[in-house]
Amino acid sequence: MKIIKVVNQQAGGQQGSEIFEAALNNGAKTFGLATGSTPLSTYQHLVASNIDFSKTVTINLDEYVGLAYDHEQSYHYFMQTNLFATKKFAKSFIPDGMNANLEQAIKNYDGILANNPIDLQILGIGENGHIGFNEPGTSFDSHTHIVDLTPSTIKANARFFENITDVPTQAITMGIADIMAAKQIVLLAFGRQKAQAVKAMIEGPITETVPASVLQKHVNVVVIIDDDAASLLR
Ligand code: GLP
Repeated sequence: MKIIKVVNQQAGGQQGSEIFEAALNNGAKTFGLATGSTPLSTYQHLVASNIDFSKTVTINLDEYVGLAYDHEQSYHYFMQTNLFATKKFAKSFIPDGMNANLEQAIKNYDGILANNPIDLQILGIGENGHIGFNEPGTSFDSHTHIVDLTPSTIKANARFFENITDVPTQAITMGIADIMAAKQIVLLAFGRQKAQAVKAMIEGPITETVPASVLQKHVNVVVIIDDDAASLLR
């Protein structure tokens, strides 16, 4: 793992967007995208840039189950608002948490992933070490699946909803094997609340209890962190 320390989230976003641009210049065609507060500064830099993504395909990691696409907290809405409204992409895929047949939605997404190998995957990290919505205990061999969100994740994400009871309890997510199949991975983490997860990811044992620890096995990972997120590292 290559670790890049940055002074703050803005600087991290600058690094993130430079890695996107370099990948594009090296022929990357498909980008794996993430949501949450962490990748926002990267998307802001991409929006402000004149990088041309019109031939690029995007594939998002995850989506809540049962939140309408135009719900302000859905990941469809997030991507539309923060990136797609201003940057044109050739085609964008997000898991379909509104499909009445979730088994079909899973099959569809696995097909999309098989047809569009990801060149660069951007990731945040959950406070419990989750990536995408792959919660602790998820098999490293997993593909697209439905997850029951842990109480820790529901609590962490409640800040975006009026009431904690409004937070969906399930999500549809790319699996860990799908994330590991990306040619390059960039994981960003900012703030003290991520320090424990960052330490476990980088210095802890490789274990399904800490989903992000699997990244130690990937040959091309860049971790972009601020001082607070790095504060527990040796
Ligand atoms: C969410 C998302 C993850 C994200 C994580 C951290 O649950 N499913 O993809 O990385 O939580 O979110 P944030 O960046 O807002 O801290």
